[in-house]
Amino acid sequence: MSSLPPDPAAAFKQQAAIQAAALVQDGMAVGLGTGSTARFVVAELGRRVREEGLRINAIPTSIATRTQAQEEGIPLTTFAEHPELDIAIDGADEIEPTTLNLIKGLGGALLWEKIVASIARQFVIVADASKYVDHLGMHCPLPVEVIPFGWESAAHRLDALGAQTTPRRLRDGSLFLTDEKNLIIDCLFPPMTNPDALAADILNIVGVVEHGLFLHMATQTITAGPDGVKVLT
Ligand code: 5RP
Repeated sequence: MSSLPPDPAAAFKQQAAIQAAALVQDGMAVGLGTGSTARFVVAELGRRVREEGLRINAIPTSIATRTQAQEEGIPLTTFAEHPELDIAIDGADEIEPTTLNLIKGLGGALLWEKIVASIARQFVIVADASKYVDHLGMHCPLPVEVIPFGWESAAHRLDALGAQTTPRRLRDGSLFLTDEKNLIIDCLFPPMTNPDALAADILNIVGVVEHGLFLHMATQTITAGPDGVKVLT
């Protein structure tokens, strides 16, 4: 039995995920996101592969998603075979509805997620409606992935950009490692009025690999909440 508390938003996440998975057509190369909402997408695509004979090739954005995709019987592919993808479907931590700009990476997979999103012709976000914010940074920290060497200095430079920084740790106190064996610095910024400038400043820090600002990338968001399903493009 799982020791995790039940997720009150799970039904909304699943509703959004099933609608997004319906966008996937036979023959497509598909990026599979990471997180509790993306899990519902992978489950639905697995169902369609098994029950409807849907033929797809997928690239997962984390080891966890790769494991789930394999368990679901979804055929996996490589960047060599598919340097571009037809669609990627992923979750988000915050969504600015007016721009479709996002914060992602609370699940720690932002680097692989951004690589996959960047080569997808359609980048579809699935979430429950609680993820909408007026300005990015209102509800959650911005995760920044840094290499382990000199990470304290990178954190210091993120502080200087106005963030309150915390290296992400596991319950036992050890540093969280991404699938690329990097660290995540969670950065609490004031609500962002110019995320493009902030993104450029963060990428200027030597040792930063990537950050969780996904700007001008999403082509569509599908959210579900008490008021029903909402699609933004
Ligand atoms: C992982 C992510 C996730 O997509 C994001 O954290 C949303 O997760 P969830 O669907 O569990 O709310 O960016 O790196």
